[in-house]
Amino acid sequence: MTDIPDIADADQPERLSLQLPDEAATAALARALASALQPGIAIHLSGDLGAGKTAFTRALLRALGHTGRARSPTFTLLEPYNLSNFDLYHFDFYRLSSERAWLDAGFDEYLDGRGVVVIEWPEMAGDTLPAPDLRLRIDFDPDAGDDARRVELLARGARGRACLNAIRDAGFCAPGPGPEPAPR
Ligand SMILES: Nc1ncnc2c1ncn2[C@@H]1O[C@H](COP(=O)(O)OP(=O)(O)OP(=O)(O)O)[C@@H](O)[C@H]1O
Ligand SMILES: [Mg+2]
Repeated sequence: MTDIPDIADADQPERLSLQLPDEAATAALARALASALQPGIAIHLSGDLGAGKTAFTRALLRALGHTGRARSPTFTLLEPYNLSNFDLYHFDFYRLSSERAWLDAGFDEYLDGRGVVVIEWPEMAGDTLPAPDLRLRIDFDPDAGDDARRVELLARGARGRACLNAIRDAGFCAPGPGPEPAPR
């Protein structure tokens, strides 16, 4: 009898939690992800102000061969990049005037599958954005130092899973349970 693939399982999102001790680790994560990017992939970056969403995107752009400046799209909402293998559209929706303002601005044409899309502050667009292949949530990790971050990755679909696999193949893996807390 032939095995029928379990479609429900194949649709389950996959998660990976990582600790990044410093900005070099964030850049290494971006390099690992860069190797799996292909046109049409959408990545959402969440996290507080200053968590490292733009720093991560800059490292991604460098890994993809961009040598010029990479401005934060804080005020322009969009910074486009013409890279050697595809275009990359870096959005920051923090200053979006309404959830639908990105649609009114015609930005949906950049989500047509021809480029890679990276969006900071996707939550400002509410549920008007299509689900991404990969979500990253970057959080400060003050107990581990000023430059330490924790990252939660959530991948959906084959393309998202391929991104997670590339990250795992580069040696990133979830932290172990760690030492027992010291007795009081
Ligand atoms: N591990 C780290 N990963 C990323 N950035 C780090 C790390 N450690 C220190 N930093 C510093 O933290 C700052 C992150 O700023 P960045 O502009 O990337 O934040 P952001 O999440 O894009 O904020 P915003 O929501 O305002 O756009 C940078 O100055 C960067 O050098
Ligand atoms: Mg930013």
